[in-house]
Amino acid sequence: MTQSIPLFNLFLPCPSGVEDMLAAEVKRVSHAKPTPARAGVYAKGSFEDVLKLNLHSRLAQRVLVELMHAPYRSEDDIYQAACDTLWEQWLTPRHTFKIDATASRSPLQSLNFAALRVKDGLCDRFRHFEGVRPSVDTERPDARVFAHFGPEHVTLSIDTSGEPLFKRGWRFDKGDAPLKETLAAAMLEASGWAHLAREKGIDAPPLVDPCCGSGTIAIEAAQLVAGIAPGSMRRFGFERLLPFEAKQWNAIKEEATNQAITKTDVQEAIKNGFVANVYGSDLAFRMVDFANTNAERAGVSGLVNFRGGDALQRSAPVEGPGVIVMNPPYGERIDTRGVAASQAAHAARAPVELRSAPADESQRDASANFFQLLGRHWKTAYPGWTAWVLSPDMKLPAAMRFKESRRVPMFNGPIECRLFRFDLTAMPERRAESDNASAR
Ligand SMILES: C[S@@+](CC[C@H](N)C(=O)[O-])C[C@H]1O[C@@H](n2cnc3c(N)ncnc32)[C@H](O)[C@@H]1O
Repeated sequence: MTQSIPLFNLFLPCPSGVEDMLAAEVKRVSHAKPTPARAGVYAKGSFEDVLKLNLHSRLAQRVLVELMHAPYRSEDDIYQAACDTLWEQWLTPRHTFKIDATASRSPLQSLNFAALRVKDGLCDRFRHFEGVRPSVDTERPDARVFAHFGPEHVTLSIDTSGEPLFKRGWRFDKGDAPLKETLAAAMLEASGWAHLAREKGIDAPPLVDPCCGSGTIAIEAAQLVAGIAPGSMRRFGFERLLPFEAKQWNAIKEEATNQAITKTDVQEAIKNGFVANVYGSDLAFRMVDFANTNAERAGVSGLVNFRGGDALQRSAPVEGPGVIVMNPPYGERIDTRGVAASQAAHAARAPVELRSAPADESQRDASANFFQLLGRHWKTAYPGWTAWVLSPDMKLPAAMRFKESRRVPMFNGPIECRLFRFDLTAMPERRAESDNASAR
């Protein structure tokens, strides 16, 4: 008689707006059966699926295995639910652990106290059956327990990821406003370019990020081209949990490595005239250095090309049409610099009677100026290309003098954004000339 493989209820949290893309990814990289929910995806899958999802998911924040889902009204019910959970299938008393608690529309007075009751239940169960209990370590726990308190039900899950999955293990150098790798991947997925990269590999259409910072979007893109698994450079929480078997994990990793284009393949392709089709540039040369070091660590240095330069002056690095994907500088977190800033500063230094705005508004002017000039520049330098721009500014299309053909809601951490799609049609030559003259 063959033994049936146990299936678990999984939950993969993700930012709102990404759920459907994540559900499709779950199907693509594992045998788990996904159902999109709010800010995440439920899936039914085996422990092997858990390992594959951790290794291959570009979009999930982590992979949780649900161990208990029970109704509750009071803290006593929570304690009982924790006492009834089969923790011993995942942990031993020698493991250290940490409880992370979240709530939505919960009747509880104190989330901390509720988390404490989960801890008590977990420890008392071990003490009862084994005579010893595991200890809490809030800094570097062996295992993380997630407790979620809804309006009527408590859900207790064990985390299999450890560090959140956006930490791929290659980005040590970053600027002031780095994009999470998972969000960069969601932008590439929403733009449709990720699909092309998976299908066509190094023949995918060119991709450009003209404000690349530490290179997150371009490096994610280059890894897609190479078929490198996003988790291949990091460790995972499941490696310390009881169901873990090194043999199974090594086989999954080996399968992933065999599917990826190796450094030697890339070097060989470069010798035969292959030119990278993923490009990034940034005004700050320090950022370009960071991006190059990060690309080296991510195993894609031959597939991506980083350079310095003002986005307002960079012409298309290759013949298109291709795709621009970027999260430009915005708000107070990061300033727009370069041509747009010097124009605004120049205007602020002008005699009072000639100024259109007070000096302290010059940064805001620079930002508005930047987007207007960028729109103009793209029309002449990137005709036929498609641009996808992530911004919290709902008026960005008006600022760029464009009409977006799509706007995809996405969250950059707590900031609600839109990923705007602009189809860059060529500007008639006469109009472009007079526009450029008035911009000077
Ligand atoms: C929001 S950050 C991009 C972060 C990037 N996606 C990452 O993950 O590191 C914006 C970047 O735009 C750059 N920048 C500002 N003004 C620029 C300009 N005029 N041309 C090119 N880059 C510019 C900044 O140096 C900064 O690195």
